[in-house]
Amino acid sequence: MSKSNERLCQPVRLGRYDLPHRIVMAPLTRSRARQPGNVPSPLNACYYAQRASAAFIITEATQVSMQGQGYAWTPGIHSREQIEGWRGVTEAVHRAGGLIFMQLWHVGRISHPRLQPDGMLPVAPSAIKPAGQAFVENEKGEGELVPFVTPRALQLEEMPYLVQQYAHGARNALDAGFDGVEIHAANGYLLDQFINSTTNHRTDRYGGPVENRARLLLEVVAAVAEVWGSDRVGVRLSPLGSFNDMGDTDPETTFGYIAEKLGECGLAYLHIVNPATAALEQGTEPDPRALRMVDLIRKKYRGTLIVAGGFDQDTAEAWLEQGKADLIAFGRKFLANPDLPERFRQRAPLNADDPSTYYGGGAKGYTDYPTLAQLRGEKPQPCVDDRWR
Ligand SMILES: Cc1cc2nc3c(=O)[nH]c(=O)nc-3n(C[C@H](O)[C@H](O)[C@H](O)COP(=O)(O)O)c2cc1C
Repeated sequence: MSKSNERLCQPVRLGRYDLPHRIVMAPLTRSRARQPGNVPSPLNACYYAQRASAAFIITEATQVSMQGQGYAWTPGIHSREQIEGWRGVTEAVHRAGGLIFMQLWHVGRISHPRLQPDGMLPVAPSAIKPAGQAFVENEKGEGELVPFVTPRALQLEEMPYLVQQYAHGARNALDAGFDGVEIHAANGYLLDQFINSTTNHRTDRYGGPVENRARLLLEVVAAVAEVWGSDRVGVRLSPLGSFNDMGDTDPETTFGYIAEKLGECGLAYLHIVNPATAALEQGTEPDPRALRMVDLIRKKYRGTLIVAGGFDQDTAEAWLEQGKADLIAFGRKFLANPDLPERFRQRAPLNADDPSTYYGGGAKGYTDYPTLAQLRGEKPQPCVDDRWR
């Protein structure tokens, strides 16, 4: 970077790792796992290795079980083949000098019988149908949108089995050579469905007051920390998020409590999806509720805080400078700029991302975004290891 005091470029400690800077790659679903079996491939390894200069990479959301899948072609971490596929990814990232955490995912109601084992109903805290559509594969092998169905409410007796699904995914991620895991409790998926009052109408010990709505998350954190040690575990939350038809009647109480409880867990970090994303991006005045929420989380959570959503280099610097976050995660900018930290250092122009190639497909819009070196005429680094040919 041009100025030595730029904070994005300052090193930081994250759990047991020393990171060289604060530019994190946010989790990005790309729906390009090999079929059948949702297995990571050499193409996926290439994509992640290209982005190894991130402070650390958080993988795309990865289902911990077949029940946890909600979109066509997303990778899993429940089969032997998937573990082997992911090992190819972690080795490629490590060879390129990077660190990589896996985002552990169960979608809950954001699924469809066509994605579920034996065509069963998706599960959720309560039998409440989300507005919107599921992304499934049709008979021609193409992606298709179909309306969501009403999910089946989980029985109390099933709750330990849900925790086990995350623990199993966490053990498999360890086996696959990851450096840590992030528990996906954001964006309207299973754990977020338990947290938010509009999707959780239960009357047992997993519903009602926030202490109950947070229970599943805290049980999952404990089980995953048992596998990894809490200092290699992060959690992602999306307070005030409405994606996937979400909402909470008293978000400050809900997320204030959860941030405080997570602060007692000794995690590597808490990662929040910025509730002021749209305003930040458009340069407009954010909703005061969103700013209050960011301050509240900062106050209640004792530990390293990552914020993602709508940042460019200058707004990221400003947030670090104001002490609102310790690291910033970039999604779409990392998707389109494999060498994002280098571009920030040089204040170089960025490639624009192409939303038409976000989900599904092959190398186009995935591994073919050029680096600065390529734009200067250098040949791209060979990406696929010889052993895979
Ligand atoms: C194509 C795409 C896929 C995404 N997939 C995930 C995901 O798998 N898990 C997750 O927690 N967030 C996911 N997100 C949200 C991003 O992690 C990030 O919060 C969002 O893009 C806002 O950050 P940005 O403004 O830097 O792009 C996704 C976003 C995009 C654009």
